[in-house]
Amino acid sequence: MKAHRAAILRFADDRSAVYEEDGLLVIGPDAQGQPVVRAVGPYRELIDRYPGVAVTHHPGRILAPGFVDLHIHCPQTDVIGSPAEGLLPWLENYTFPHESRFHDGDYATEVAGFFLDELLRHGVTTALAFATSHPASVDALFEQARQRQMRFITGKVLQDRFSPDGVRDQTEQSLIDTEDLIRRWHGVDRLGYAITPRFAPTSTPAQLRGAGELAARYPEVWVQSHVAENKAEIAWARELFPESRSYLGTYADFGLMRERAIYAHCIHFDDDDRALMRETGAAAAVSPTSNLFLGSGFFDYEGADRVGYRYGLASDVGGGTSFSPFHTMLAAYYVGREGQTKPGLSLSPQQLWWQHTAGAAQALGLGGVAGGPTIGNLQPGSEADFVLLNPQATPLLARKTAQARNLDELLFALIVLGDDRLIEQTFVAGQAAVIPT
Ligand code: GUN
Ligand code: ZN
Repeated sequence: MKAHRAAILRFADDRSAVYEEDGLLVIGPDAQGQPVVRAVGPYRELIDRYPGVAVTHHPGRILAPGFVDLHIHCPQTDVIGSPAEGLLPWLENYTFPHESRFHDGDYATEVAGFFLDELLRHGVTTALAFATSHPASVDALFEQARQRQMRFITGKVLQDRFSPDGVRDQTEQSLIDTEDLIRRWHGVDRLGYAITPRFAPTSTPAQLRGAGELAARYPEVWVQSHVAENKAEIAWARELFPESRSYLGTYADFGLMRERAIYAHCIHFDDDDRALMRETGAAAAVSPTSNLFLGSGFFDYEGADRVGYRYGLASDVGGGTSFSPFHTMLAAYYVGREGQTKPGLSLSPQQLWWQHTAGAAQALGLGGVAGGPTIGNLQPGSEADFVLLNPQATPLLARKTAQARNLDELLFALIVLGDDRLIEQTFVAGQAAVIPT
């Protein structure tokens, strides 16, 4: 057993943030030997219950749950900042040509290592990530994530049409490869597999049907895709699948909507789409820096909350512009303001932080489902993935956070001014991650 003494931020079941100015986080093995939070609370109340425990004191630091990125593309690490008129020319001119390089396992391994270290450097301890259509890119990511002991989910992209040579896969083989990867990787250490049709337009009906059959056969495995991001994309999807009620409805028609299915963007929805999300238990990965960069539109927070479906925050690198959860939360705040119809403050800093930690974990089914692993909230029993924040990391942060009069003011200062400098250390499975500088 070991313990960390610091200010501690965590999340309760009702989504509210709990903050101890002088807290203690006690870590020890669970029944399977996995390091978990054994106790968390005020230092003065807890310390006597753990006599002799080795305590590391972090004065002036804030300990908080590791961030969860609900949607990101490893192979687009080097695509960040590629300007285009919109999604489809961006895919054609930058993304597909770049992703074609990932047939090469050595290249994929080098990028995967850099990508995972970059996540950790920004305090992200779990991500649901796209690899490319090449199985070698999936093996590389899983191997690298396993070395770092991360809870990490990825999958081979399925795209058997309207894709150039070099990234286009072959229907039957793509499904064989997917099942082989599921069997080899899902549930190994902290790794999970995601069935990954890129988006409906680049899959034949046969490929989507096969993906849906796998999703039914392996209910513990995740599903990830994109939907309703961009007007031209939606028109194309409707043209290709005219019999579906909507673009989102196409995924339902092929058995791809269920618990543990995460759809990126979900911008241009109507209330029937929102109800379909709620009824199937699927969740949205809200990606505001990507949506602003590619000019895709604004996620409708009010609509999502009115109908009541799950969502969480995501960077969507490389459509997204930053690995930093602080940048993503700030962009979400801007978007929340833009879409707001009622007066008042838009998203609160506690809500934003929850959406990138406990909320994203819940969207993945990792938020405290009985018998399953829990991440993102630092409640007792949850896995020991956390970050240590240094609110004095820059002169302006130090000045601003010293003036915070309450938790909301403190969290707002961190969200608005924060970036990777704020992350002093990232702990994965109870251990401080060693990240090359
Ligand atoms: N839709 C299909 N593929 C992609 C992708 O790589 N990024 C984004 N933002 N949208 C997509
Ligand atoms: Zn994406």
